[in-house]
Amino acid sequence: MTDLTDITGPADQADPVAFPQDRTCPYHPPTGYQPLRDGRPLSRVTLFDGREVWVVTAHATARALLSDPRLSSNRLHPDFPVPTERFAGVRDRQVALLGQDDPEHHRQRRMMIPSFTVKRATELRPWIQRTVDALLDAMIAQGPPAELVSAFALPVPSMVICGLLGVPYADHEFFEEQTRRLLRGRTAAEARGARDRLEEYLGGLIDDKARQGDPGDGILDELVRNQLRDGTLDRAEIVSLAIILLVAGHETTANMISLGTYTLLRHPDRLAELRADPTLLPAAVEELMRMLSIAEGMQRVALEDIEIAGATIRAGEGVLFSTSVINRDPDRYEEPDTLDFHRSARHHVAFGFGIHQCLGQNLARAELEIALGSLLARLPGLRLAVPADEVRFKPGDTIQGMLELPVTW
Ligand code: HEM
Repeated sequence: MTDLTDITGPADQADPVAFPQDRTCPYHPPTGYQPLRDGRPLSRVTLFDGREVWVVTAHATARALLSDPRLSSNRLHPDFPVPTERFAGVRDRQVALLGQDDPEHHRQRRMMIPSFTVKRATELRPWIQRTVDALLDAMIAQGPPAELVSAFALPVPSMVICGLLGVPYADHEFFEEQTRRLLRGRTAAEARGARDRLEEYLGGLIDDKARQGDPGDGILDELVRNQLRDGTLDRAEIVSLAIILLVAGHETTANMISLGTYTLLRHPDRLAELRADPTLLPAAVEELMRMLSIAEGMQRVALEDIEIAGATIRAGEGVLFSTSVINRDPDRYEEPDTLDFHRSARHHVAFGFGIHQCLGQNLARAELEIALGSLLARLPGLRLAVPADEVRFKPGDTIQGMLELPVTW
């Protein structure tokens, strides 16, 4: 029989660290996560409300748990972990896709997949390229210098997701502001207000489309034309799908473009390597995804007891996934803190894993390759316009990004 004193693992951990935390350097995990990087596959952490939950930090354990149906994504579950105060404001309502378990999840996802395949993303490339070129033309005509987030990093994915969904880009200031409040608001009330305004706006848009005899050719138009009319989806489900596609479709990619550019500018050797050999671009995008891990702390709740990696996750316990630490697991990636375009970064979990793995990942990859590739090709002298320590980042916790990126060339 095993002597209990021989077991090393989650049970012998000292004080649980706070989770999530702000990053100290925008492209490294918070220094406060160091105790989570000591080789343990999962640890206990404390959330803002004092609740203790598990956080998964090993790559193999993360992939096993993210494909385990005993972990639920249902935000209405009374024990679902709430990582931030703002999140507490929006867990009163069911969330399409991201908040669903199978079989409901599968039913919704199956309807969306044709719009997000690799083939579809490839077909969209010439249009994405034209969008990127037009924004760069305008930025170059007005500069240098330029503020890259507002001139480029945000409009690229905003215009693309508007075109795909059939949402008027003319409304971008409204939905970008509500997204900012939803994902970065300080209080539960601020996040709930933003969610409610997005619901009202997109509900109105869907009603307009339903009234038109022949709506356009966006994804929302097709959902109205097919699923709403034949009753496969009701209005509330379409509104919920529209919110997640609009919000996830622009904010995350915008953060990757700005933070990816900043990270390249802070790694001049890698930047020179990429400029010299643009065929490295797909690998560079994958490695930046791994290194930046901008979507931190995916959440689940255990429906049953789960024995894994020497620990027992009890039914009702919360489980978070620290993407930034998982993507630097030294058992999976050699020298994980180094930016290296020649490693195989592809199996990172920056887009998640399992049934909820990012629906928009093929689109995001196409946007990132075209945006970063064109930016570097058009502006060989691109550099920061202010000292690096004056650049303003988004307050960390769950989604990383930049508030502003002043550049010159
Ligand atoms: C670089 C940009 C992006 C990053 C880092 C990212 C990250 C993620 C992650 C980590 C998840 C899994 C969440 C979980 O399991 O709890 C996810 C899911 C999702 N993402 Fe993305 N995403 C990005 C771009 C996009 C884009 C462009 C879209 C556009 C449509 C999108 C739509 C979605 C949707 C709908 C889900 C939920 C899928 C499901 O539950 O089946 N994402 N994303």
